[in-house]
Amino acid sequence: MASAQRPSDAADLGPVSVGEFDSEDHFAMAASLADQLEEGWKAARDDLRAFKPPVDRPDGVVVCGMGGSAIGADVVRVCMPGLTVPFEVVRAYDLPAWVSPRTLVVAVSYSGNTEETLACADDAFGRGCRPVCVATGGALGALARKRDRPLVTVPPGMQPRAALGYLATSLAATLDWAGLVGEFAPQVAEAAEIVRSMAAELHPAVPDEANPAKPLARRLHGHVALIYGAGVTAPAARRWKGQINENGKAPAFFAEFPELNHNEIVGWTGDPALARTMHVVLLVDPWASERIARRIDYTAEHLSGRTAGVDVVTAAGESPFARVCSVITMGDFVSLYLAVLSGVDPTPVAAIEELKRHLRS
Ligand code: F6R
Repeated sequence: MASAQRPSDAADLGPVSVGEFDSEDHFAMAASLADQLEEGWKAARDDLRAFKPPVDRPDGVVVCGMGGSAIGADVVRVCMPGLTVPFEVVRAYDLPAWVSPRTLVVAVSYSGNTEETLACADDAFGRGCRPVCVATGGALGALARKRDRPLVTVPPGMQPRAALGYLATSLAATLDWAGLVGEFAPQVAEAAEIVRSMAAELHPAVPDEANPAKPLARRLHGHVALIYGAGVTAPAARRWKGQINENGKAPAFFAEFPELNHNEIVGWTGDPALARTMHVVLLVDPWASERIARRIDYTAEHLSGRTAGVDVVTAAGESPFARVCSVITMGDFVSLYLAVLSGVDPTPVAAIEELKRHLRS
């Protein structure tokens, strides 16, 4: 998209024609989250119906995946407060030492071809586990079929990170099928309703004054984004970071309360010029405890004036899934507007493809 004219930072972004930058209509994919949640939840339950859960009462849950295929696990993990067994998300080649044949292992790879995830799936079989696989197909799909393991299939043709709704609900349905969680359907319904109305509000045709994602993207543009979350918004902070990296093609980092109050806040004090190159976004959950709320208020106060800016994004909804999905939706749109401001196409991730090619060669 090198030939496209980059909108100036000062200009109103909307209504803006994003078509020239957005070769694969990533805005439409972001706006499809509500549909993905509803369809994914239903389709995954259908896919699993023919199988029996591998163990009666699993001693734990391990989800292995990378990047856009792993984030759904972080999201689902904070939405299952009733889960009484450990739930670990593994972004690596090996499973943790505690995994036993009684552990529910779920291998998630949108392409089905990610080497870390395939290595974990092999590791799981080697330890006598009977994993569930989530993929569009690829080598992981083939492995599931060959070993007669459940394969939850997600629709192909998207970027993995844009398929979050399918991937997250596939996992939620897997935990439901394994008898590990109570009724999740109401959380899916509330999340879908909220993100559907947010997608309409954040649409490119909606001008700045009515579209909070556009001015926020402009404030972030040209700065390093630091995204801070806590509890339910912690996975959203990780998601914002990944989306700003992959869609906005910009550096971004995330951290979590309360841990960041024990190190990160000191990092703001030594070099004022460096601190002013960064813009902080605080992802606030109105349902968070008073203790977390006080920390966030103090941190916002401490950082304003030191950094390029501090913005607060507040979760909407009641159920944890709706709250986390609402904050994610705002971040997804902000990352797309950042791409527009930089004049880059949000969809391709050439750096990742290049690395994968290099490792295969
Ligand atoms: C690309 C993306 C990446 C991939 C990751 C793993 O949109 O989000 O982070 O998710 O490289 O690939 P898959 O998801 O195919 O296992």
